[in-house]
Amino acid sequence: MSNQSIEWPVKTRELHSHHFDSTIWNDFAFRDDDVVISTYAKSGTTWVQQIVSQLIFAGTEDLEVAEMSPWMDLRVPPKEVKLPAVEAQRHRRFVKTHLPVDALVFSPKAKYIYIGRDGRDVVWSLYNHHANANQLWYQALNDTPGRVGPPIDKPHDSVRQYFLEWLEKDGYPFWPYWENAQSWWAIRDLPNVLFLHFADLKKDMAGEIRRIADFLGIAVEEKTWPAILRHCSFDYMKANATKSVPLGGAFWDAGAEVFIHKGQNGRWREILTEADCQAYEARALHELGPDCARWFAEGGPTV
Ligand code: A3P
Repeated sequence: MSNQSIEWPVKTRELHSHHFDSTIWNDFAFRDDDVVISTYAKSGTTWVQQIVSQLIFAGTEDLEVAEMSPWMDLRVPPKEVKLPAVEAQRHRRFVKTHLPVDALVFSPKAKYIYIGRDGRDVVWSLYNHHANANQLWYQALNDTPGRVGPPIDKPHDSVRQYFLEWLEKDGYPFWPYWENAQSWWAIRDLPNVLFLHFADLKKDMAGEIRRIADFLGIAVEEKTWPAILRHCSFDYMKANATKSVPLGGAFWDAGAEVFIHKGQNGRWREILTEADCQAYEARALHELGPDCARWFAEGGPTV
């Protein structure tokens, strides 16, 4: 199919919340080789940012990945600060988003990498992120001018209650999961979209990085692979978390390592009841349909 005959996604709305300001994309001047890394959240975004940085910079150590690869639609710092910073970048840009497709400005020329993860794993990761966040995080999200909607509160003491509320209130206190999953799934076959799953990255990181390199058109010299694989491993990223985690981990008193937490799936199995899991799976099936629900739960081929 030629690019002319494709129906490209069109932005239909803006999203504003304690976290989001989607309007930044309206003023983003795309370059043809831009890379946009997208997830619902807590699905391996930082991991793939690290992978892409390693591919662009051929395994170089000590890159300031978090600074190089901003979360565009996070409303702090504001777009007046963020846009000139990415405009000034001379290297191939790789930025991050957590928006559903219909709140993004979608460029036919940029390349989009979407990473999926089971909602239960997402919430377990999110709980760790939220429960460890410090005053600075609450101040940035709640007190910086421009917040739309209610502030974000402290989480429950119980991760199970946190999960049940997230499920019942469609992503509360963050943002809806199903619409993010549906909207990206619907465009998975576009030529400039690559789908990855957290479970597949865990299973075969080297193979998945090769897929990413092919998709981005980056030729990697054989001698560079060992450095790339080392710098993208969980242990390396945990030990060097201040480089890849937003603001060097300033939002967490325990530091950036708390963000690169366990790197495992299925931690919810010990805590959620069978009925909880059935409720989640029934909701996923209803919201996503069988193929998409299966893929978000397990990964594998998207066909
Ligand atoms: P856990 O909290 O389950 O440990 P995001 O970057 O989208 O916020 O996702 C964060 C999740 O990715 C965290 O999951 C973190 O540990 C995991 N992660 C980051 N780098 C990783 C790596 N190299 N290997 C495995 N998991 C990684």
